[in-house]
Amino acid sequence: MSFPADFVWGAATAAHQVEGGNTNSDCWLLEHAKPSLFAEPSNDACDHAARYADDIAVLAALGLNTYRFSIEWARVEPEEGAFSQAALDHYKRVIDACWSRGVRPMATFHHFTNPRWVARDGGWADDRIAERFARYCEFTAGVLGGELAYACTINEINIPDALSELMQRVKAKHPDRKAAAEQVLGAPIEAFYLFAGGNGYTERALRAHMLARDAIKTAAPHVPVGMTMSIQECEAEPADAAQAALRAYKARVYAPYYDVAKSDDFLGVQTYTRTLFSADGKASRRPPEGAEVTQMGYEYRPQALAAACRDAWSATQTPILVTESGIATKDDGRRRAFIRAALEGVAAAMADGVDIRGYVYWTLLDNYEWMSGYAPLFGLVGVDRRTMARAIKPSAVMLGQIARANALDVQTAESDVALSAVGAAVGVGSN
Ligand code: BGC
Repeated sequence: MSFPADFVWGAATAAHQVEGGNTNSDCWLLEHAKPSLFAEPSNDACDHAARYADDIAVLAALGLNTYRFSIEWARVEPEEGAFSQAALDHYKRVIDACWSRGVRPMATFHHFTNPRWVARDGGWADDRIAERFARYCEFTAGVLGGELAYACTINEINIPDALSELMQRVKAKHPDRKAAAEQVLGAPIEAFYLFAGGNGYTERALRAHMLARDAIKTAAPHVPVGMTMSIQECEAEPADAAQAALRAYKARVYAPYYDVAKSDDFLGVQTYTRTLFSADGKASRRPPEGAEVTQMGYEYRPQALAAACRDAWSATQTPILVTESGIATKDDGRRRAFIRAALEGVAAAMADGVDIRGYVYWTLLDNYEWMSGYAPLFGLVGVDRRTMARAIKPSAVMLGQIARANALDVQTAESDVALSAVGAAVGVGSN
């Protein structure tokens, strides 16, 4: 159970979820709509915009070799065509902080949030999105691209498709929140990425990805570029109707993206649980009776990751990077078990010939979980919401040890010694 020499071992974040004060984004507007679809506003998030260097130091001290973060379009292009040098300088410092610690920077150019002006014009429901997104990528990659180790264009490019039925229900259940959202956006709610599924979204998103990929490749030909996809383990009840529902879902939510990923450098796989299909034709992440559930209400299902990687590989033959896999739980012991079991699945898939090049845990810090607010705890590192103090969890130490050994057969370190050694190295506490 050991991994290839250059295997990517990382942890991920996304700008809006950790930086704090992303006031020029559409998500910020939605959080402050009255009433809001979001449980609470992001406010200062994890203050990562100021604390990125310490956070990257923790990641490096743990033993991880890659940091996946996102570049915030709303900061880089606050108004159409007006690019912020200061914002690009900030991300240059983030990238430098990575390299100075021996950490490879993996940047995502779009992780759910848009500048307000993009949303006002209809966002991901508007046909101008592809050219607009590509222009921002071209500019950004022109300045920063050469220094990246990996570039992800659009995070979970297929999540709007996967969420479309759920979002229909959310809109129908909360007409007042939808109306307030549309008022603050100045556009239909479909402008916001997570609500954009349907009505030609797939074609628009794929066009945006391809233009962005070409722009990044032109600026930085040596940097591997790919999209990331939300891919769950899919299972159907034996009934024909359930099997047909599963096939129809995969044809709509996975297949068009797999086709394009065939010509990318890598495919980012992001898996959290299992999606079950029943004879009524519905896809559901609702757990089966009696199953252990996570804070997200998902079935505890670490083996879903390998199933998703196998599916992606058989459909694309494109090298896979696991760009997100994780669990929301207060019980760090369950997180350790989840990580280990997920990695055992990855190792077994690799032994069967699935070309997996890395594993990036979601997420480095307990952070802002979109509409659910701060309650779900996905992090390897805890964040005190009042003081912003970081606290390294045993799961972080365990993953770091696996990464250093590049193998799974390490002792699970829960010992205070290991924790305090990492903490002392970077001046943070542990819990
Ligand atoms: C997203 C993250 C999110 C995570 C956990 C993924 O869909 O990329 O931003 O926090 O899942 O729900």
